Order: sequence, then C-alpha cells, then structure tokens
Amino acid sequence: MSHEPTDTERPDPLQSPVRPTSALAWRLDPLRGADRLRAVPQSRPTPGPGQVLVEVRAASLNRRDLMIMDGTYPIPATPGVVPLSDGVGVVVEVGPGVTRAAVGDRVTGTYFQRWVAGPQRLVDVREQYGANHDGWLARYVLLEEVSVVHVPDHLTDAEAASLTCAGLVAWTAVTNPTPPGPGETLLTVGSGAVALFAVQFARAHGARVISLTSSPEKAKRLRELGADEVVDRTETPDWHLAVRELTGGDGVEHVVDAVGPPTLPKSVAAAAYNARVTLIGAFPATTPLTDPFAGNYVSIRRIAVGSRTDFEAMNRTLSAHRLRPVVDREFPFEAAPEAYRYVREGTPFGKVVISF
Ligand SMILES: NC(=O)c1ccc[n+]([C@@H]2O[C@H](COP(=O)([O-])OP(=O)(O)OC[C@H]3O[C@@H](n4cnc5c(N)ncnc54)[C@H](OP(=O)(O)O)[C@@H]3O)[C@@H](O)[C@H]2O)c1
Repeated sequence: MSHEPTDTERPDPLQSPVRPTSALAWRLDPLRGADRLRAVPQSRPTPGPGQVLVEVRAASLNRRDLMIMDGTYPIPATPGVVPLSDGVGVVVEVGPGVTRAAVGDRVTGTYFQRWVAGPQRLVDVREQYGANHDGWLARYVLLEEVSVVHVPDHLTDAEAASLTCAGLVAWTAVTNPTPPGPGETLLTVGSGAVALFAVQFARAHGARVISLTSSPEKAKRLRELGADEVVDRTETPDWHLAVRELTGGDGVEHVVDAVGPPTLPKSVAAAAYNARVTLIGAFPATTPLTDPFAGNYVSIRRIAVGSRTDFEAMNRTLSAHRLRPVVDREFPFEAAPEAYRYVREGTPFGKVVISF
C-alpha cells in the first residue's frame, strides 16, 4: 500500500515538490526578514496510527505566535513549521486505532501535544503545535489523537478557534487548584484575550471582578463583559491602592496578572493576606524580580496553559453558561500576514481570528 509522506516527514517543507492541489499552508520561513510567512501548496496528509486529520475552518493568533515568529519564544520554531496553536475544524479522516474522534466531529487541539492530566512536567511542555509540530494556519492539520478536544456546540467557528491558549490559561489561573467563590474578589491585570477570558470565568463562578485597564473605552467594554469595577491605570497610577479601597482595605483574594514584571509589585500590593497571585505574562528569563512578595503573605505562581482535562472542564463551563469568547476581528486566510501585523501593531480587544 502506498503511503503519501506527511508534511512532517518532508525534510524541507518550503522547498519540497507537492502534488498539485488547491490547498495552501502558511509556513514560517527562517530565511525571510521580519515578515516570515510564506504560503505554499499543501498536499492532504494521510493520518498514521493514532492520528486525526482535520480540515481547518478557523485559527487564531496569540502573543506567543509573534514571539515564535521573532525567535524569542523559549521553544525555537522548526524551520518551515505551520504556525498557530489555536484553531477549529472538522475531522475528515482518522488513522488506525483512533477512538477519541470520528469523521464529521468539530474539534480543536490542546496546546501541549501530550499533556492530558495531572501536574505539568517539563516533558509535557516540549511538544507544541505551531512551534515544533505543524499547527493550524493551513487547510489541513494532523493531530495526535491524545490532543483532540471537542468544542462547545453553541460557539461559532471563530469563537471555537479562540480557546486553546488564552482561554485555557485563563481557566487554569481562575479555577486551579480551587475556583474563587461568592464573597471573593478577583483582579484582572491587562485587557488582552487572557484577561477577558478570566473576567468571564471568574464571574461564572460567582466572584466579584475588578479589572485594570488603560482607557475609558476599554473600561466600558470590560464592564459590559462582566467586570464589577474597573480601575483606569492611566488616571490612577497608584491603582493597587484604588483596588484595596474597593475591597474595604483588605485587598483581593485572587490576581490574574496577564502583564508580568511591570505590574507584579502592584498586583502583590493589591492582594489580600494569603491571596493567590497568578502570573501569566511572558517575559525573558533574565528579567530581574526584586522582592516579588513585597512583604505580603501571598502565593505567587507562574503557569503555562493547561492540560486536556482542564480544557474539557473549561468547555463544560462554556456550554453551561453559554459563554462566548470575545472576538475582535476576523481576517481571510489569504490575509494571514496582515492579521499578524494587526496583533503586533494594533490594540485588539479580544481574539484575532483567521478564517477559511
Ligand atoms: N503562560 C501562558 O500559558 C500564556 C498563555 C497566553 C498568553 N500568555 C501571555 O500573557 C500575556 C497577555 O497576553 P494577551 O494575549 O492576553 O494580551 P496582550 O495582547 O499581550 O495585551 C496585554 C494587555 O496588557 C496591558 N498592558 C500592557 N503593558 C502593560 C503595562 N506595562 N502595565 C499595565 N498593563 C499593561 C494592556 O491592556 P490595557 O491597555 O487594558 O491596560 C494590553 O492590552 C502575554 O505576555 C502572553 O504572551 C501566557
């Protein structure tokens, strides 16, 4: 029986001849300058044992995809890799032995190819779609069965393509190991996609939410999304004091800081005794963090996305509360480089999606 080589088996995906096809994939070309995306024909891969072939309907960008393009992400991109960790599509073929997905299912994939459950180990984070395995910016994506996740029915394709990275890390930050409850306050720092998801998940658990942002326009949209109070850091540079005031001087029980070292000291200063401060923003390993506890008794942790089990729990909550990810703008597949530029230079409020 003949076996058509999959894209991952080809030594140089940018140069290899492929069967004439109307399908295209965007690939990261290490030889091109700042704008490193290149559209190349894509042959339809054949799923091997335990693999699932998905025809992509939509994909979305995360800050990490710019870092991968720029070479600043901790895991270097495989030259010629198809980028993007987030997407949604329909299963069109399954390989031998597959039981977790069937032709016709609408699915997405996990961020880490093989982290199913339990505490994260270093070995779990090394294999990532859109970095060292072909991701979603293509007509077809070949998923390992273990990484397949079914998406909530009520979501559009653009919304369902927005969950894998920003959605799941927000879910993990808010709910693991225990979710906040009524009577507790959660502070979100930043108004990027992660913070927006965190607002929705904290409200769904009955917590009061205070959000930090930089403009009245964003403040209005955060309130519409569910934030109970919004502090404008432009108007109120000592925003940690304003947050404490809003909690009667006690501070907040939970902080989801989606910025990083610039905001961490004030996030800690806004926190209540024995609060949980979760640091999500990406920053270089060399960034100095002086006295991160600021004399406060808090737990500070840094997290990375979540497991497949976390993903499935998040989807149950999205379905139960009919929650919808905030989508800022959709670009057609052909305009993928423009979508990257928009994320880099614009100020999106919500996810930026590339649709077929
Ligand atoms: N660890 C993980 O698993 C994981 C997963 C996803 C994302 N991330 C990281 O999380 C971060 C957030 O990503 P994102 O996509 O949600 O958002 P983003 O597009 O990076 O936006 C971050 C927002 O933070 C605010 N901000 C930026 N600089 C600030 C500063 N110096 N002080 C205060 N606020 C500031 C701005 O909001 P306002 O103008 O409203 O203040 C900005 O819109 C990124 O670093 C990303 O790489 C990590």
